[in-house]
Amino acid sequence: MITTYKAAPDIEVLTSNFPIPGYGLVPINSFVIKGSEPVLVDTGAVVETDEFMAALRAVIDPADLKWIWLTHTDCDHIGSLQRLIAENPQIRVVTTFLGVGIMSLSAPLPLDRVYLVNPGERINVGDRKLIAVKPPAFDNPCTTGFYDDKSRVFFSSDCFGALLSSVPQNAADLSDSDLRDGQIFWATVDSPWLHRVDGDALARELNSIRRMEPEMILSSHLPAAPGNMSERLLASLADASTAEPFVGPNQTALEQMLTEMTAVA
Ligand SMILES: [Fe+2]
Ligand SMILES: [Fe+2]
Repeated sequence: MITTYKAAPDIEVLTSNFPIPGYGLVPINSFVIKGSEPVLVDTGAVVETDEFMAALRAVIDPADLKWIWLTHTDCDHIGSLQRLIAENPQIRVVTTFLGVGIMSLSAPLPLDRVYLVNPGERINVGDRKLIAVKPPAFDNPCTTGFYDDKSRVFFSSDCFGALLSSVPQNAADLSDSDLRDGQIFWATVDSPWLHRVDGDALARELNSIRRMEPEMILSSHLPAAPGNMSERLLASLADASTAEPFVGPNQTALEQMLTEMTAVA
């Protein structure tokens, strides 16, 4: 089920909780920036396109959208992408050269409908400038988040996500331990390469977000986090690099799970 809430006066969140059996819930967020040129940030999961379109219509007429900022091409971000491009001939999809390349392997993007950005570049979208940022952690090489200079919100893509037992609308409502543990677990699952990164190099990346001083951090996989939580979010990510690496269930565990499910049925 996809629900919506307002994270800022001009920013709506579309969110659903994806259960990972035995581990918890991961929120899947997309965002609508209701500026003079409305921007949709990501387009929900492939398995939820009908629900996503209904939730989107509840917050904006999709015909009014001018831009889709595609943070990356994973299945929890591209669900309604092709549908929106087909429905609305004015939408431009902000992505990277690599994003276009990856999409060309499954659902090619029409080249006259894309707008290519690289980290550090900015794009004017009516009443605001969006500055492309490579977040400190990511799970797809085409990942590009951005900083909105009007709302002063950092859209961080998968970075700062967390696996949670329950998902509030405001990350400030999470306990310190739920946030920290959930974030570290997510980071070890989603960006396992963090374990191989030099600590000083990671600290420099985290400092670049600190210097941004965002009013809010909007992750694809965390409830909206007010800017005064930035230090906590950054600290968890720093600690993730030395945390226990994630090892998923193996075949023996899967067979045991299937046996238990059959017994219950
Ligand atoms: Fe991802
Ligand atoms: Fe994601």
